[in-house]
This record gives sequence, structure tokens and C-alpha cells, in this order.
Amino acid sequence: MSDKLDEIIKKHQNVQRDSLLPLLQEIQLELGYLSEESINRIGTSLGLPTSKIYGVATFYDQFRFEPKGRFHIQICHGTACHIEKSARIIAEAERLLKIRQGQTTRDGLFSIEVVNCMGACALSPVIAVNDKYYPGIQARDLKGIIDNCKAKTA
Ligand code: FES
Repeated sequence: MSDKLDEIIKKHQNVQRDSLLPLLQEIQLELGYLSEESINRIGTSLGLPTSKIYGVATFYDQFRFEPKGRFHIQICHGTACHIEKSARIIAEAERLLKIRQGQTTRDGLFSIEVVNCMGACALSPVIAVNDKYYPGIQARDLKGIIDNCKAKTA
């Protein structure tokens, strides 16, 4: 993975603080998240303080700083889903899993990501667990979905 990371950073060798976004996006695409190592390597290669890189990355919701869980729960919070009370679904997922959006449970089983429009607005509110979509979901449905995921690991 180090080689791949070096390769990506090399491609963006001349970026400045204001144009870090494509570099960070490419690394996240490759690793699934922005690891501490990757941030440090960017800092060393580009001569930027890591605090500046974190400053840019944390400004955008799209970046994760922990690896995804085995069951990655994406909750749509686009306009249509927002109208259909997706905020309740987010709150319930955070309550049940005891993590916040962008985090992963300590056992590595679950992670939560809040996303904008999953392209299924007519079926809102929508969530996805890995690649499986759950349309028209209610907050009360979450426990069953999470329990089913847990059952697959037993
Ligand atoms: S806003 Fe949720 S699927 Fe479009």
C-alpha cells in the first residue's frame, strides 16, 4: 500500500494547501479512508504541516479517518430523505451503535456514513448496508437490520 500511496502523492506533487482536495479524494478512494500514515506522508512529501491537511480534510463531510466497518451503513440525508425524516434514522443508528457518523464501532463491525442523495428519491428515506438498499425505511427498522448483520457474523 505504501507504494500506491507514494504513487498517488507523486502525481499531486505540486499541490498547495488550497488544492489538496483531489489528492485527498484519490487516497480515500484507494484506502477507503484517510489514515494517519497517509496524512503524515502527504505532509512530509509536500512540506505541509499535518494540522493544515487535517484542517482541509475535516472541512469536508466526505472524508473518513477510520476504516469502514464490515457493515458500512450509508444513510441518505439528501433533500427528499431529509423531508422524510432521515435525521431520525441517523440519530437512531448512532444511538444503537454508540458511534457518530463517520466513525466505526470498536469491533470493526459497523460504520456510519451520512451521504447526499443516493439516487432513489422516490423511495425515500433510503439507507444502504454495503451495497444493499433499504428503501422507505423507518428508524424503528434499524434494530432488525443491525441484528441481521450481527447474525451473519455468528
Ligand atoms: S435524497 Fe435520498 S435518495 Fe435522493
